[in-house]
Amino acid sequence: MSVRAYVQDAIACIELARPERKNAIDARMYRHLADALTAAAHNDEVRAVVIHGSPTVFCAGNDIHDFLERSPTSPNVDALHFMQALVDHEKPVVAAVNGAAVGIGTTLLLHCDLVYCADDAMFSMPFVSLGLCPEFASSLLVPLNAGYHKAAEKLLFGEPISAEEALDMGLVNRLLPPGEVLDYAMHQARRFRALPPAAVRQTKHLLKAGWRAAVQTAMSTELEAFRTLLGSADSREALSAFLERRKPDFSRTASAPAGAPAAKE
Ligand code: COA
Repeated sequence: MSVRAYVQDAIACIELARPERKNAIDARMYRHLADALTAAAHNDEVRAVVIHGSPTVFCAGNDIHDFLERSPTSPNVDALHFMQALVDHEKPVVAAVNGAAVGIGTTLLLHCDLVYCADDAMFSMPFVSLGLCPEFASSLLVPLNAGYHKAAEKLLFGEPISAEEALDMGLVNRLLPPGEVLDYAMHQARRFRALPPAAVRQTKHLLKAGWRAAVQTAMSTELEAFRTLLGSADSREALSAFLERRKPDFSRTASAPAGAPAAKE
């Protein structure tokens, strides 16, 4: 089982547990994650959700084998259902991050309410270097949190983001020693047990109201562009290069102008 979900002290804990693949998320895991979020939403006993990974890695992003195997023209419905369940979640969602959070591992944090990370955690959104583009409203929410220029630097170059930078960029709430992150996230989640649930839900709803519609629009616009790019020769080359542990060679792939459909193989 690569996702563990259980309820403890009125907190729904959702653990990414595929350490041999650095908790990269495949289609089956997306389905389990979506189911776990939906179950937490419907369970009256649950007052908050905690999402965490392993002690040394949070999540290495979408499973790259899945990217290469899936037809680029078919939407990744499993990822979509998971992210929509997270975006729509009415209860507070707390994330505990140890180690690397890559791609959707960082993107999903933008939709959590509270994010706690280890002081040596590392974030990155390497979409461009994989021949792809931002996903799940990261093109909207990273500039909203961090300002346009910082967001452009991190999203265009896909540069790693240290824990301190993530704090400066408004991506996380607090840094902790690695061994204390999960306990602190659980402690924060448990605080919701002492608060009136209807007021918590309403406040979360209001906090996100200003950009709820824009998030949905960004998600569909990005999805369209992402699917086109996923079918491009550049992206196939970059994804294969990662798995083959070599540098990608873009010298033989034609680049298409932004907005134009990328060349299909
Ligand atoms: N999908 C599929 N497999 C992945 C993966 C992913 N997203 N990320 C890591 N793996 C696999 C590696 O291929 C490797 O498999 P192998 O042992 O069969 O060669 C194994 O997991 C261990 O990964 P490795 O890269 O050797 O670990 P590391 O400790 O050196 O680095 C990361 C860890 C997380 C920094 C690194 O794996 C990484 O950057 N992954 C992110 C990949 C990516 O770009 N994801 C974004 C997709 S949008």
